[in-house]
Amino acid sequence: MKILGIETSCDETAAAIVKDGRKILSNIVASSSDMHIKSGGIIPEIAARQQVISIIPVIEEALKKGCGWEVRNGLKMSSEDEKNSQLNPTSKLISHNSTPPIDSIAITVGPGLIGSLLVGVETAKTLAYLWKKPIIPVNHLVAHIYANWLDKKSNVKGQKSKVPQFPALALVVSGGHTDLVLMKDHPSASSGQAENIKWIGGTRDDAAGEAFDKCARLLGLHYPGGPAISDEAEKFFNQSQVTNHKSLTLFPRPLMGEDNYDWSFSGLKTAVLRRVKEQESKRVKERISIQQLAAEIQEAIVDSLVEKSIRAIKKYKPKSFLLSGGVAANKRLREKFLQRIKSEILQVFHVPPVNLCTDNAVSIASCAFYNYHPLDWRKIKADPALTIVGEI
Ligand code: KG4
Ligand code: ZN
Repeated sequence: MKILGIETSCDETAAAIVKDGRKILSNIVASSSDMHIKSGGIIPEIAARQQVISIIPVIEEALKKGCGWEVRNGLKMSSEDEKNSQLNPTSKLISHNSTPPIDSIAITVGPGLIGSLLVGVETAKTLAYLWKKPIIPVNHLVAHIYANWLDKKSNVKGQKSKVPQFPALALVVSGGHTDLVLMKDHPSASSGQAENIKWIGGTRDDAAGEAFDKCARLLGLHYPGGPAISDEAEKFFNQSQVTNHKSLTLFPRPLMGEDNYDWSFSGLKTAVLRRVKEQESKRVKERISIQQLAAEIQEAIVDSLVEKSIRAIKKYKPKSFLLSGGVAANKRLREKFLQRIKSEILQVFHVPPVNLCTDNAVSIASCAFYNYHPLDWRKIKADPALTIVGEI
């Protein structure tokens, strides 16, 4: 089964074609993140406007690369059509008789920015209606987890990469969410989402990605803060003699002693602000470089995420541990999880390739394949506040 996935929840416009939930036939992502660099965070109106500009070219490209289907396949456009298609980009995809060789359309309905979500949702509904294809609404947070199902290169030559096994424990760490869930099966495999996916912990305030982004801004680094902090931290390790991360204890790891699977990252931002102000006013004896501060911030976030997750792995004893979301692209987080999971417990650790950690549409198509519940297009609505265990 070939599914066209469409994702527009934030500042990425993405479309992809995935065969049978695992084989990536195309993966197209356009991002407006460069337009938000100066503001230090996403401006929703700018993100939505860029979604409108990018959505049709991105879908066209995904169809062309993924199944060789081009807009002009079915029809020679008249000059009048050509003129109209430039006025109204959607008409390029729909103003002819042929339909692309896909079986269905999967669309992110939430959570996310309402303006951005609406662009994808309304485009997907229009295409489903015109092409007479089933449409599957997808939860963006659950879809992040499905980046772990996509076929990737196995370490052993000639062997297929492993498919995650249930029960699975999944940590989603993105720009707006930090959630730890237990999955007994695919969330809507049979008896409904509530039975198969259970929320066991998450952040009480800022998300992990948000903490990276806000702390980066305090250090004068650009958006998105995660990669910027990671690059500065890398410079610190390359320039200094420090090889042991254990010495990086400047910033707090709240809630670590509590018997739960919750996190709190807003105190980190306050502690970083205090330190930056003290350094500016020369109230501290020893001035720490931006690179070292970045390494300290990264270690505080990584340490909290890994140690609480290890505690949950020990309690729930899942067959797989699945890391996902934009923050899962962080090199130090991947490395520390691997070390701790290998050395402490024999769990199967899954993490997507870096390009599938951040927002993309292959995860959307894969999630729809394993949770295949098409809805009448009229019932599909954007839901900016959808939670990871929320009913669609
Ligand atoms: O999942 P995602 O692409 O979008 C959301 O659904 O929010 O996540 C974006 C977040 C941003 O906060 C960004 O700073 C963070 O992921 N991020 C990283 C890295 N790459 C992206 N955080 C730490 N290290 C990275 N290498
Ligand atoms: Zn995301």
